[in-house]
Amino acid sequence: MRLAGKAAIITGAGAGIGRATAHLFAEEGAEVVVVDCDSEAGTKTVRLIEENGGAAIFLQVDVSKAADVKRMVERTVERYGRLDILVNNAGIYTQGDVVEAAEEEWDRILDVNLKGVFLCSKYSIPEMIKGGGGSIVNIGSEAGIVGIKNQVAYNVSKSGVIALTKSMALDFALHNIRVNCLCPGRTLTPLVENVIAEAQDPESTRRALEEDRPLKRMGRPEEIAAGILFLASDESPYATGSILSIDGGYTAQ
Ligand SMILES: NC(=O)c1ccc[n+]([C@@H]2O[C@H](COP(=O)([O-])OP(=O)(O)OC[C@H]3O[C@@H](n4cnc5c(N)ncnc54)[C@H](O)[C@@H]3O)[C@@H](O)[C@H]2O)c1
Repeated sequence: MRLAGKAAIITGAGAGIGRATAHLFAEEGAEVVVVDCDSEAGTKTVRLIEENGGAAIFLQVDVSKAADVKRMVERTVERYGRLDILVNNAGIYTQGDVVEAAEEEWDRILDVNLKGVFLCSKYSIPEMIKGGGGSIVNIGSEAGIVGIKNQVAYNVSKSGVIALTKSMALDFALHNIRVNCLCPGRTLTPLVENVIAEAQDPESTRRALEEDRPLKRMGRPEEIAAGILFLASDESPYATGSILSIDGGYTAQ
């Protein structure tokens, strides 16, 4: 029970890495706030947690909208009386180079993947300070560490998440708030399943997505959630401003 007595917000917890993290946090004793813009998906995560004996509530929030995010923090504190952990996981993906990418698409990716982290942190940190400290885990990507072709807006958003992590770690260290970034490599979630499904040849695309990394497979959401738990919990008390890769060796190449 590594998170007993802690209240944790997990954004984008309706699917994939966020859902696996919500599930694991609840198993470790946290009171979980499942945040997603998709109410059906978020409600399902809460149901899965409750069926497993855990505690969770769902809040429908678009992390790129300040009013939604303010309400997210207010409702969390109303319900659990505190806020200890924030996992900034909600993210979207799009392909295209700078010539192809539509301006609206660029704006939307940056709004969700980067401004969303800014807003959720901005409104959560004052509550963490009131409680004597906290832990923030931002979900970056291997695409924020190395260049990956044909997904320029996504790459830039994830590099920004790494820079934001380091800035917040420095700014709030003396408030006992640790801020770290977990950079997953390709992980089999709905995000990647959609890329495979939309490819001209889904089967060879799936194989290519496995073959380009030393471990020759995609990650499982649970494997990423384990790293998020480490950074979020008191198991990593000396880690702040850290960038932890869990990517099957991709960025070691
Ligand atoms: N899957 C991968 O290969 C991979 C690799 C590296 C990084 N990541 C990052 O991990 C995170 C989770 O990815 P995933 O693969 O689990 O994605 P996913 O698409 O499977 O799930 C993302 C969830 O976020 C929600 N969401 C999207 N926009 C939102 C918004 N504006 N407000 C609130 N919720 C929103 C979606 O409804 C969905 O439930 C993302 O930040 C992603 O960029 C994923």
